[in-house]
Amino acid sequence: RHLAPMLSLDNAFGEAELREFDARCTKLLETDQPIEYFCELKYDGASLSLIFEDGLLVKSATRGDGVTGETVTENARTIRGVPLRLTHPLPGVNEVRGEVVMLKSDFERANNERAAAGQQLFANPRNAASGGLRQLDSRLTARRRLTFLPYSFGVATAETEAKTPTQSIALALLTDLGFNPNNQARVCLGPDALVAFVAEIEAQRAELPFGIDGVVVKVNRRDQQAELGFTARGPRWAVAYKFPAEQAFTELRDITLQVGRTGTITPVAELVPVFVGGVTISRATLHNFDELTRKDVRVGDTVIVQRAGDVIPEVVGAVLEKRPQSSTIFVEPTHCPACGNELGRKPGIVFLRCPNKLGCPAQTSSLLKHFVGRKMMDIDGLGDKLIDRLLELGYISDIASIYRLGERAAELKELDRMGEASVDNLLASIQASKTRPLARLLFALGIPELGERTAQDIVRELRSLDAFRTVTQERLMEIEGIGPIVAASITDWLSEGDNQALLSDLLDLGVAPEEGKAPSSALFVGQTFVFTGKLETFTREAAEALVQDQGGKAASSVSKNTTTVVAGPNAGSKLAKAEQLGIPVLTETEFLSLLPPGAL
Ligand code: IVH
Repeated sequence: RHLAPMLSLDNAFGEAELREFDARCTKLLETDQPIEYFCELKYDGASLSLIFEDGLLVKSATRGDGVTGETVTENARTIRGVPLRLTHPLPGVNEVRGEVVMLKSDFERANNERAAAGQQLFANPRNAASGGLRQLDSRLTARRRLTFLPYSFGVATAETEAKTPTQSIALALLTDLGFNPNNQARVCLGPDALVAFVAEIEAQRAELPFGIDGVVVKVNRRDQQAELGFTARGPRWAVAYKFPAEQAFTELRDITLQVGRTGTITPVAELVPVFVGGVTISRATLHNFDELTRKDVRVGDTVIVQRAGDVIPEVVGAVLEKRPQSSTIFVEPTHCPACGNELGRKPGIVFLRCPNKLGCPAQTSSLLKHFVGRKMMDIDGLGDKLIDRLLELGYISDIASIYRLGERAAELKELDRMGEASVDNLLASIQASKTRPLARLLFALGIPELGERTAQDIVRELRSLDAFRTVTQERLMEIEGIGPIVAASITDWLSEGDNQALLSDLLDLGVAPEEGKAPSSALFVGQTFVFTGKLETFTREAAEALVQDQGGKAASSVSKNTTTVVAGPNAGSKLAKAEQLGIPVLTETEFLSLLPPGAL
């Protein structure tokens, strides 16, 4: 548990919101002088708390949910820039907070090494850093070559506080104590200086040795910080100015086609690799053919690609001035690139679909990869590459054939890199998947329009696979959250003989999903609960299951249909919405007290 919560910051997008932040501080401080700010880079990594006792590092924790984190002391000791002992005596308990990042150069080196070893690449430096921090073996953390960048003291002694009347002095003291804060931070007086600073940093962003996603602007004087205070979310005296999505230019080498698990054909841009938004991009989605036509992107063009936060990279458009004579317009395909089937595009439908549901190898491959996924049947050891290999060998051909792999154990063990143990594990995992909850099976089947939440809604009402197989469109539409389009798509799927045959095959092969239970009481009938914030006693899924077990419904968002919101610490917008709509809000303890004895 953190000595004091590790809060987050409000965001400001664009110059206007930055000026609004300054105007708000000026008003609250009732000053006619320009405010002195300290502006720091907003490092894109994972936050870390370091506790020093009499100058010795004794404990370290990740941010976690802000209130409780994970203890990672041994790992922290291996990180560059974390002093094990401060260079000057600093009596008492003092906490230093900062961000753990992976330098861009270390990121590239790590990924080169991983590629050579045939390991999966890190998606971006932030994931590599936050994953590295949480390794169980600190030798693995050490191997990631992470870097700590301090940004402030956390809980500190009165003596430390007295020595640091401003944020800029606090950082100078940290330097003195053996830390290496980045030296691009600067004192800015008034709003114009803020605007100039963020523009300057944005221009340097690509050349910095580590990734940043903005600038943190802090009121420099601690007395003014104290006067401004905090909201539930974070300090009123600081704001995170976020850069707009990062863009880069590169060349569009080719446009290829991807066939999804339901046959949707998506054009994909094959790019000359370019580093943007913290990752190297060599492919980006072009979404669909209407969009491709609208953007008029041609093979050979110089294009603008963009990536914002965790969003999938996309092609924004072409640089027309640079269009070469040789550029070619990509023609919408008339036949499936994988199976050669003729494609029909229904008028008004954006997506091009391959109708060859069973015979198209690309669809089969994407469907099988989906089926075994972590949120679906969760079959460990059946990765993308192995699926494609088994398809090629003819060892699997459809979903049901996964459950016949046991018959080929001997052949599997002969495969390259597939020893005795991995085959045994794979078969055990396939066996274990047979009794996954029904909702997961329904989601895993890849029925168009039937997502994770819809699957849960269906199971809550229909409970059994038998009931699902014969459900009508009308019955489905009675279920909250299911409209006519989703209902029709599901009954279309069920009306196909091949799909019913698949379900029968699965049952014959011993697939016996855990069915929905009848509620054990009618306590919450007609009520809809929303859980938000951190729960102490159980996970959100378990809490939702409890509500259903008492005959009620659980939803993920607050609406006028919500009857009760249960809010834990760090509840955010859902709590605000409940208050705005006048919906009763309970604490977790109050919720527990509603339950009958033995319900837990
Ligand atoms: S100060 C009470 N300074 O951004 C605010 N945070 O949204 C304390 N971050 O989780 C944060 N660089 O991990 C501060 N120079 C910087 C930062 C920084 C990155 C992260 C931090 C926090 C998040 C706030």
